[in-house]
Amino acid sequence: MPATHDPKIIVALDFPSDREALDLATRLDPKQCRLKVGKEMFTRYGPTLVERLQTQGFEIFLDLKFHDIPNTVAGACRSAAELGVWMVNVHCLGGRKMMSEAANALSKVSRRPMLIGVTILTSMGEEDIAEVGVEGPIAQRVLQLARLAQDSGLDGVVCSPLEIEPVRANLGADFALVTPGIRPAGGSADDQKRIMTPGKAIATGATYLVIGRPITQAPDPLQALAAITAEIPA
Ligand code: C5P
Repeated sequence: MPATHDPKIIVALDFPSDREALDLATRLDPKQCRLKVGKEMFTRYGPTLVERLQTQGFEIFLDLKFHDIPNTVAGACRSAAELGVWMVNVHCLGGRKMMSEAANALSKVSRRPMLIGVTILTSMGEEDIAEVGVEGPIAQRVLQLARLAQDSGLDGVVCSPLEIEPVRANLGADFALVTPGIRPAGGSADDQKRIMTPGKAIATGATYLVIGRPITQAPDPLQALAAITAEIPA
């Protein structure tokens, strides 16, 4: 399989220890995927883990979902850029000023990470958002927040497979859609409910696919990654 310059797959490193994450990284190929480091691993192992993975040749999506006052979020994004990550994210509910200041802070760094917004957490249903004072339906709020993210200078949003089509249709071809909930054809759904195959997600308009267990728990992760990549139309 030819090495792709912009691999579509981001492997989610959801492990309790850095040993497992680093071991997995040695079994994967940085030309075929990027890696996502989230709150659990970053809180325990910090920038050192990110640096070690980067030393192994991987580009990192630092999934810390910043949400704070604009000045603080801008500073956090600057720190992420200095760490050298490829992608960083913020909560769209932090508002226009927060997102714009984050985008503005990143526009001044030499190696600018992609800046992605989290719209409504997919763990929340209509009742959950009502309880915190956000009016539904969720699909409309997601689109509204994605528009605001684009307007504020963000490069894209995280969205579930179900949201790819409407967000892509409304926000154009250049807005990045980062999509979890991906399962290879015939694979186990695990605890994901709204799933889509890699091929269908990319064909529907996803830009990057966040995939964890189908790769991290496979007996041969590199082979699993290759099989998933083969499902994606070139
Ligand atoms: O193992 P699996 O492929 O389900 O992992 C998906 C990854 O994407 C996990 O790190 C999970 O936390 C993350 N994620 C998700 N759904 C969202 C947002 C993030 O599954 N809505």
